[in-house]
Amino acid sequence: MTIEKIRELVSQMTLEEKAGMLSGADFWHTKGVERLDIPQTMVSDGPHGLRKQDEQGDHLGVNDSIKAVCFPAGCASASSFDRALLTEMGEYLGDECQAEGISVLLGPAMNIKRSPLCGRNFEYLSEDPYVAGEMSAALVKGVQSRHVGTSPKHFALNNQEGRRMSVSAEADERTMREIYLAGFERMVKATKPWTMMCSYNRINGTYAAANEWLLTEVLRKEWGFDGYVMSDWGAVDERVADVKAGLNLEMPGNGGLNDKRIVEAVKNGELPETVLDENVVQLLNIVFRFEENRDKTAVFDRDRDHEMARRVASESMVLLKNNGVLPLSGNDNVVFIGKYASEPRFQGGGSSHINSHKVTSAAEAAAGIAGVSFVKGFDDAKDQTDEAMVREAVEAAKAAGTAVIFAGLPDSFESEGYDRTHMRMPESQNHLIEAVAAVQPNTVVVLHNGSPVEMPWIDKVAAVLECYLGGQAVGAAQVDVLFGKVNPSGKLAETFPVQLEDNPSFLNFPGEGDTVCYREGIFVGYRYYDTKKMDVLFPFGHGLSYTTFAYGNLTVDRDNIKDTDTVTVTVDVTNTGSCAGKEVVQLYVAGPHKNVIRPEKELKGFEKVSLEPGETKTVTFTLEKRAFAYWNTVLADWHVETGVYGVKVGASSRDIRLERKISVTSTQAVPHTYTIHSTMGDVMENPKLAPILADTMAKISETLGGQKKEEGEAASAAISEEMSAAMMRDMPLRSAMSFTGGKVSYEDLVKMVEQMNSVE
Ligand code: BGC
Repeated sequence: MTIEKIRELVSQMTLEEKAGMLSGADFWHTKGVERLDIPQTMVSDGPHGLRKQDEQGDHLGVNDSIKAVCFPAGCASASSFDRALLTEMGEYLGDECQAEGISVLLGPAMNIKRSPLCGRNFEYLSEDPYVAGEMSAALVKGVQSRHVGTSPKHFALNNQEGRRMSVSAEADERTMREIYLAGFERMVKATKPWTMMCSYNRINGTYAAANEWLLTEVLRKEWGFDGYVMSDWGAVDERVADVKAGLNLEMPGNGGLNDKRIVEAVKNGELPETVLDENVVQLLNIVFRFEENRDKTAVFDRDRDHEMARRVASESMVLLKNNGVLPLSGNDNVVFIGKYASEPRFQGGGSSHINSHKVTSAAEAAAGIAGVSFVKGFDDAKDQTDEAMVREAVEAAKAAGTAVIFAGLPDSFESEGYDRTHMRMPESQNHLIEAVAAVQPNTVVVLHNGSPVEMPWIDKVAAVLECYLGGQAVGAAQVDVLFGKVNPSGKLAETFPVQLEDNPSFLNFPGEGDTVCYREGIFVGYRYYDTKKMDVLFPFGHGLSYTTFAYGNLTVDRDNIKDTDTVTVTVDVTNTGSCAGKEVVQLYVAGPHKNVIRPEKELKGFEKVSLEPGETKTVTFTLEKRAFAYWNTVLADWHVETGVYGVKVGASSRDIRLERKISVTSTQAVPHTYTIHSTMGDVMENPKLAPILADTMAKISETLGGQKKEEGEAASAAISEEMSAAMMRDMPLRSAMSFTGGKVSYEDLVKMVEQMNSVE
């Protein structure tokens, strides 16, 4: 239906019908208006599978949802760094939604991983906004290609679970723009999601639901979003203020109470009816977009989708360490140790929890492979070492050629609704790993966790395979990777710090009472660790393969550009090993470090390439202004500082293989207002202003003058030429009154400043 037709329809609605439209009919449905043929539509969690509840939907999950397919959670799928794969996964999810009559899938969840402790990191994608933006956009494209909407969430700054419904995330605008909004921006501009979900928390004091700057100025006006914004479940505070701010749909329904308040607000003039109408138009536009594109022939083929879940999982696993023990050969006499080999932890708790139609464990998937045995090793229900189980594991490990321990975090260690308090694995599992590694040099650890863990045993084991929360087919994918049917190609979309205390948010997470200050600013994840040159357990972008890759011929098509130009960067990547494999080629840009504080480098491109042994492919990146820009608060826009930038290409943030330099010249001056408190150095930076100040500076020199060596040892030791120059640079203009012996007056200064401010 055209927007004009929708406007026409809205003009036929009563005030009560319009107000009613802006809240759910229940937990999962929008309202319909029968007399006008406005249908009800259903939304459903999300993000990595369908959690479609029956009519008695209850959010807390007391009532089961339908049997569905659990794909790998965001922590895993983002590690694939494979846009095409996520788009395909989105297509599968879109088909499932069509088959089940779901108009909007509530996801992807894409908040930045500020701290490893955030209970919901398992759903989130990355510590880096470029990765979060690219991977979420890929998924959104896939789902929406099936004429089903998405609801990227939680917009914005919902980076912790503690007090998520009341906490105020306090961040400066540059930090928000460069880190916490940038991923959403990239995704919105690339895909135009049908809906967005606002977060529970406040942002610098204002609830996201009532944040006009966020929901209207930034999201709609700047980024061009044209769908509807829904609240997170229960995120509405003051409904009328929220409508004005641009929050279209309150979820779940409010039993009519807030609808009445909207009606009253229109009647008493508090809320212009035109604002209400526009909110309804935006919502109905999406309702009809779904209704008119219903695919009633779509089927939900759970077994087919299980195989897709397996593929996504195997492409997402990250081989963190390998001394050559992997891949296993098939006649290695392998013992699988650990509860998660037979009952894998493959998803997290909360609103994303899927009622999986089946689960494949590694033990089950390896049943056909000769020489693979299994012992339980630990029980994750209680973090208590069972010495009998450990003894059994140690004996089995001794007798085997290789021990593979399936370990990780139990459900109670991480979940929606609360944050972790430490980064450790259960002591009982650490103890088991140490005991097994002590008797078996070929010990492999396979991890199931939604967020980084400390690894006190890392030097004692032969290999570590990070599977994150790999979805219901995780066991089959693990066997594919462990036995070399699939060559691992995932990379970490987040840093694994050595210890929690190293994380930049450590001192300010989860904050004090209802306030959390993002004091680390833009220095999130590798932006902090790399700038500080800190040791990390595993760096951002890290992931090994069963083959090796060489990088060569890095070219940048121009070495001198304006910030309005685009640059093409190419690099050759060769598979130098003996089996086919995939490499995630990463491009980072390093700023000039002049007047703007910035991270040592930032990711601005990645490409995943598949290579046969001996094969070389050329990977191409295009860099535009944004790759060099930072958020300038004076301009309230992106700005590029003139200077020399490094273009660094490599296999992780700590494995840069090649680098080229490029000079970028800014085409946009940052307006500067001079006052008598401006420093001489700042004035002299602008060559056009230097002449205005020349005479005054000469007078100061005469009075203060750096003492030359020949003018006497003692004097030059007290005020050197260097000191005198530095003093002058950092001196405010008003000091000229003190340091010229009265030769420059206040009036002279005011005149000079006026002159400076009038120079174009
Ligand atoms: C979660 C959302 C979810 C919604 C509906 C909320 O508690 O934060 O991510 O989509 O519930 O289940």
